[in-house]
This record gives sequence, C-alpha cells and structure tokens, in this order.
Amino acid sequence: MYILGMESSCDETSASVIEAHDGILEIRSNIIASQIETHRLYGGVVPEIASRAHIEAVSSITREALETANITLSDVGCVAVTTHPGLIGALLVGVNFAKSLAFANNIPLVSVNHIHGHISAAYLSHTDLNPPFLSVVVSGGHTCLYVCEGYNEFREIGGTRDDAAGEAFDKIGRVIGMPYPGGAALDKLAHTGDKNAIKFPSPALRDSLDFSFSGIKTAALNYINSEKQKGTEINTADLAASYTDAIVTAIVKQAEGGLIKTGLDTLVLSGGVAANSHLRAALEKMCGKRGVRFVVPPISLCGDNGAMIAASGYFEYEKGNFADTSTNASACD
Ligand code: KG4
Ligand code: ZN
Repeated sequence: MYILGMESSCDETSASVIEAHDGILEIRSNIIASQIETHRLYGGVVPEIASRAHIEAVSSITREALETANITLSDVGCVAVTTHPGLIGALLVGVNFAKSLAFANNIPLVSVNHIHGHISAAYLSHTDLNPPFLSVVVSGGHTCLYVCEGYNEFREIGGTRDDAAGEAFDKIGRVIGMPYPGGAALDKLAHTGDKNAIKFPSPALRDSLDFSFSGIKTAALNYINSEKQKGTEINTADLAASYTDAIVTAIVKQAEGGLIKTGLDTLVLSGGVAANSHLRAALEKMCGKRGVRFVVPPISLCGDNGAMIAASGYFEYEKGNFADTSTNASACD
C-alpha cells in the first residue's frame, strides 16, 4: 500500500510516497521545497510569505513525489496530511490541498500531528523499532519527552514551559550574525570553541523533567551586551560551545531522568534539532553507559518532511482514524 504524506506546517513544503508492506515502511520519494533562503532575508519565518510559498510549491512537489515513486494517484491508498500544530496559514495550504486530492479521488484521508510525525521518522530509518520507548522531540517549536506506549500513542512526561531548544539556538545564532536558522551553523562553530569558557544557567528544571529556555537565552544576550559595552570582542566559538553544552547537558539530564523514571530500554531522538552533532553524541554516550538502545533518524529525516507524516499517517490508517470533510488545520497541539 502506498501512502502520500503532505507537510506544510512551517517553512518546508514536502510531499512523499512511502510503501507499507508486511509491517515495513519504505520511502519511495521524499520531495522537500525549502523556503529558508526566502525567510533568511528577514532573519526568521514570515508567516504570510510562508503560506504563499506553500501555495506556489504544493502542486509541483506532489506531482514530483508521485513521479519519483513511479506511481499515479490511482495507486495511492491513503493521503496523510499535517493538520497541527504549526503556522495556521501554512497548515491550511497543505490541509486544503490534501482534502481536495483525497475527496475528489475517493482516497481515505488521515490527519497527522506534526510532532507524532517527527517521532515516526524513526520507524522509517529503523524498521525493527517497536513501542514502547522513550522519545525526545527537539525542534524549532517543541522540546518534549514522551513515553511512546504504542504506535501514535503518547504520554508526555516532560516539556518546555516557554521556548524550544531550536528557537534558543536560532535566537543566539541570529544575534551573533549567523544566517537563519542559526542551529546548524552554531553546531559547527561549537566544535571549535571551549565549552567551559562561559557558565550558563541550566535549562533543565529541578524536581521535574521540564525545561525552560528563556533563562539561558537572556543570560546569553546579557553576556553579549555586557561584552560589547566593555568593548571586548566576543569569542563566538567559545559562546557557541558553552551555550550548546548547557543546552545539550540539560536535554541529556532530562532524558536520563525519563529513562530512570520509566525503566524503558530504548531512547528515540527526533525533530530538527536531532541533527545537532553534540546532542547526538551526548545522548548516544549516556545511553551506552546505561545499556539503553539509542535510535536517531539520519539527518535527512530529522527536519520537516512528508515521509515522516506518511509514516505517522499509516498508523492512523491502520487504526481506522479517518478524517472527514470537516477536517481543519489548527495552530495548537
Ligand atoms: O523540526 P524542524 O525542522 O521544524 C520545526 O518543527 O520546528 O526544526 C527546525 C529547527 C530550527 O530551530 C533549526 O535551527 C534546528 O531545527 N536545527 C538545528 C540543527 N539543524 C537544524 N539545531 C541545532 N543543531 C543543528 N545541527
Ligand atoms: Zn518540525
């Protein structure tokens, strides 16, 4: 069975075809049109521009996904679309396109939660992965710990009370002059600096598995401003290394706390920030020490993409959770 997955929650328009056979999910195509270059001019995503760019890309991206998979619309057994959370105008483009395509062609439609999609990317890269496991989702908009109790069945045991880790990386990246989104550039720069150079407050809250990134963001901004006032040139490599280390250490601490609390033997990392080399290495080390299996999708499946939406959509299809004509987009979780 072929599933067409559609994603348009933020600044990537993506369509993908995956094939489900004998419980195995395989990617046949995964086409992504990124708007990053457009938004870079403004230092961040401009929602109105994002919606317009999705409209321009969605038809051709879908056609390309079908052609690359070497199938036609009549071969598609299910259309899966991100309905929430995300930018409302951006989501509406994908949702209305997918609804039209599905209902005009009598194809079942399923609604997918973007975060569940990120977690499902791991089923594509690690076909032997089965629930239960502990999941850490770290993206531009989310930083959460979930117990994955079944396919698309989650119980949140930790999360951010304010900003997300990706947003924290992007913000400081921007202030030190890196192009949007700063996460990947900061990751690279951090390899060349001293992680002990600057002391930052931990984003890991005590006595819970929650996070707060507003304090570390403010501390970094204060550090930058006070160095500027003193006329001292900022060592951006040391800043990147120290800032990254504080964030990574906090995520590892809470993930380890989640493993201890639940006794689970597998940890899955996903979301755009899962591409971070320091985070991948640190979680792998902690899991190795604890004898826990560490699973992280390849970097190509960490950012927003249609394949992860198709994978999550497949589980909705299997459960018979079909979307009807009243299906709508929602900005919230
Ligand atoms: O999951 P995603 O593509 O979009 C959302 O759902 O938010 O995540 C995007 C986030 C951005 O904040 C971006 O800077 C961050 O992922 N990111 C990284 C890296 N690559 C992407 N953050 C840290 N290190 C990276 N290598
Ligand atoms: Zn995402």
